[in-house]
Amino acid sequence: MSDLFDFAARPALYAVMGNPIAHSKSPRIHTMFAEQCGLSIEYRAIQVDPGGFAQAVSNFRAAGGRGLNVTVPFKIEACKLAERRSRRAEIAGAVNTLKWEDGERLFGDNTDGQGLVSDITRNLGQALAGCRVLMVGAGGAARGVLGPLLEAGLGQLVIANRTVDRAMDLAMRFAGRGDVGGCGFEALAGRQFDVVINATAASLRGEVPALPAQLFTSAALAYDMAYGDGPTAFMSWAREQGAARVVDGIGMLVEQAAESFCIWHGVRPATAAVIAALRGGSRG
Ligand SMILES: NC(=O)c1ccc[n+]([C@@H]2O[C@H](COP(=O)([O-])OP(=O)(O)OC[C@H]3O[C@@H](n4cnc5c(N)ncnc54)[C@H](OP(=O)(O)O)[C@@H]3O)[C@@H](O)[C@H]2O)c1
Repeated sequence: MSDLFDFAARPALYAVMGNPIAHSKSPRIHTMFAEQCGLSIEYRAIQVDPGGFAQAVSNFRAAGGRGLNVTVPFKIEACKLAERRSRRAEIAGAVNTLKWEDGERLFGDNTDGQGLVSDITRNLGQALAGCRVLMVGAGGAARGVLGPLLEAGLGQLVIANRTVDRAMDLAMRFAGRGDVGGCGFEALAGRQFDVVINATAASLRGEVPALPAQLFTSAALAYDMAYGDGPTAFMSWAREQGAARVVDGIGMLVEQAAESFCIWHGVRPATAAVIAALRGGSRG
């Protein structure tokens, strides 16, 4: 009897799965959102071994899980596992949000791109329509955001990557959706951009991609998808290079989480206080 009572009283269960996962800020973000919306949830961070993702998802569902966030390196596998996918997840070929709908069917979505675009346009007030945008990097993060970014009506998008073939492949994949080109870093010499987005993993090791100087227009925004305790290596470099504004990826992280939260709970949480809390600027 007491078991039954405990089960009924248990908060709804959500989690993020990845490897590594200990660093994840998602449990804190979703807990703050739930408090704000008056919902009772439990949000875990679950480390999953390579090859163990499908089983881990099944175990999580059996334990009463209702929805999952998925991070490196399982986003492509999550996309394959989903029985129904949003259009933006289909375009990205990657899923960061899973939800069991209609009882059991697994729905996959990708909220990373919406998170990036919301942070740039709404939080930072930077219009994207007509802009020349440089995407540095051609890994999973870049691929996940290109669809929503192009839908914002960019004037031109250049994807530059250390391994040039990956930039070219990605540019080909999105060629029908706007003025999109791919190249290596050296080919950027002499070109200038209104927005430069660092989607490489270089900042995680304190490195800066080997980009040429003078990439930034005088009003340019330099956006690092990575984040840390202080400015990332890319942010420091961009400031030295004269970028008007330099920003880390905390806003994107919170905005993509808000979109996931909305998919699960049908209510959109406010993000500003949560972003400020993660940056240490206030208590959220
Ligand atoms: N803020 C957010 O919400 C959010 C969401 C997703 C991802 N991210 C961040 O985005 C970044 C990329 O993640 P990912 O999943 O795309 O990783 P990934 O799939 O492993 O791709 C890594 C990318 O970084 C490039 N790279 C790595 N080290 C480099 C270096 N020293 N110089 C130049 N290029 C380098 C790789 O180039 P090659 O192809 O040549 O190897 C590749 O393009 C990470 O910092 C991650 O934390 C942030």
